[in-house]
Amino acid sequence: MAYTEEINKRRTFAIISHPDAGKTTLTEKLLLFGGAIQTAGAVKSNKIRKTATSDFMEIEKQRGISVATSVMGFRYNNVQVNLLDTPGHKDFAEDTYRTLTAVDSVILVVDCAKGVEAQTERLMEVCRMRNTPVIIFVNKMDREGKNPFDLLDELEEKLSIKVRPLSWPISMGSTFKGVYNLYDKSLLLFNPNKTKIEEDIVAVENIDDELLDEQVGEDEAKQLREDVTLIEGVYDPFTQEPYLAGNIAPVFFGSAINNFGVKELLDTFIRISPKPGARPTDKREVEPEENNFSGFVFKIHANLDPRHRDRIAFLRVCSGKFERNKFYHHVRLDKDFRFSSPASFMAQEKSIIEEAFPGDVIGLYDTGNFKIGDTLTEGEDLLFKGIPSFSPEIFKELINTDPMKSKQLEKGIEQLTDEGVAQLFTQSSGSKRIVGTVGELQFEVIQYRLLHEYGASCRFEPRSIHKACWFTSDDRAQLEKFLDVKSQYIAYDKDRNAVFLAESPFLLQMAIDQYPAVTFHFTSEFKRDT
Ligand code: G4P
Repeated sequence: MAYTEEINKRRTFAIISHPDAGKTTLTEKLLLFGGAIQTAGAVKSNKIRKTATSDFMEIEKQRGISVATSVMGFRYNNVQVNLLDTPGHKDFAEDTYRTLTAVDSVILVVDCAKGVEAQTERLMEVCRMRNTPVIIFVNKMDREGKNPFDLLDELEEKLSIKVRPLSWPISMGSTFKGVYNLYDKSLLLFNPNKTKIEEDIVAVENIDDELLDEQVGEDEAKQLREDVTLIEGVYDPFTQEPYLAGNIAPVFFGSAINNFGVKELLDTFIRISPKPGARPTDKREVEPEENNFSGFVFKIHANLDPRHRDRIAFLRVCSGKFERNKFYHHVRLDKDFRFSSPASFMAQEKSIIEEAFPGDVIGLYDTGNFKIGDTLTEGEDLLFKGIPSFSPEIFKELINTDPMKSKQLEKGIEQLTDEGVAQLFTQSSGSKRIVGTVGELQFEVIQYRLLHEYGASCRFEPRSIHKACWFTSDDRAQLEKFLDVKSQYIAYDKDRNAVFLAESPFLLQMAIDQYPAVTFHFTSEFKRDT
């Protein structure tokens, strides 16, 4: 098998959370442990302030910084860890979903007081769709939070996944003493500490060791023994397979800001998380060990300098070895390209690489040839699956406000939607363009970027559309009837697939009932299957 050694030592993952649970803080601490950054605060600026909805400087700043922080690579215990950044702001959720297609596992951060929040649930749904292995980190144990048993129940119930605690907190908030590691049977003592990265680990023989009473106090030790007995009685022993299959999520407790429980999390992550695995395509599964290179683009980042329209396409290597200056086949365009300055991202540094292996993410300079989801191979005609578009949630009609600049507007909106900023639908009449996004912020970003990068001005008119769904049918007559009757609600996506723009849940249900031979799809993924 080719490249097995390289593949085995790679771990590519993302940290996800509802905003404010501590994703940025945890990211930073992991980078500190990995030696990728020396001081805390280095990645702090990597997020749009949650309150800002129209602060363009912030958006620009976010775009600038996130090129460097889109991938944060570091080495830890001889493992190449590739941490892919996901935007915290909910309006960029689609960007996060796409990034999740490029990882092999995730760490989900939950605030111990808030428990499962709206975005935690949605992100987890995306993980479940692909059976992505998940480790849960319950953060902020230095604050009063929910009872840990209640929290585990909540995680299981709201995230529809079985959980298995691997560490257990000893009290919390102002009386937080630390955690007992159920896996290693060691005790980790809590010392509020925002700068050091060492941890106080006390080796205890087992849960009955008297050292425990000495270290955390008799009452706490008694409570811990009761809790552990309960846990061992309720939960099956942890094994790796159900975790790797996405059926069980191991749970850790800690406090990212205090560097507490982070090393334990990272060590376990390195030990149990999956190495780069096989990936589905429209033709067959691609194994990472295959000799031939293949990979797909999951993110496109525009150049910050509006005078240069080149972009960086982020490609996840799925098989074989990528080499600089070698020709690769762009399957959608049926054209060959080579890349003279592919970039890798170690820590906060971007540098040109000669080669890359499965699990790696590389940045390719692009002058407009790439779209999200594009596949590169050594000639084989296949397309990676699992990079779907979801139905947008907000729809607006794009109105050109400067007829002299229609060409620029056309080009701008095409390119921005290639980047995945939003989805573009053209209505059957041919002239109306509907832009669909998951958040209001995108419309502001689009308007701003069209003006500053393409010199085109526009405005948006709200359209009352509930969902855009794709549809297929084997029953030609019924399909044609549907197209005819619903013609004013039919539009086409950028790949010329017909889309039904349902105005309300009621009208969508009516269409589903009235046209039983028509199948409605709520992600664009079906395209690859047909
Ligand atoms: P996010 O990326 O998920 O949005 O969360 P982020 O890491 O920015 O953390 C959100 C807030 O929670 C920050 O406070 C951060 O300092 C705090 N935080 C993170 N981990 C812990 C923890 O273990 N314990 C406690 N008590 N707080 C934690 P902030 O006030 O919003 O920002 P800052 O002023 O501290 O920078």
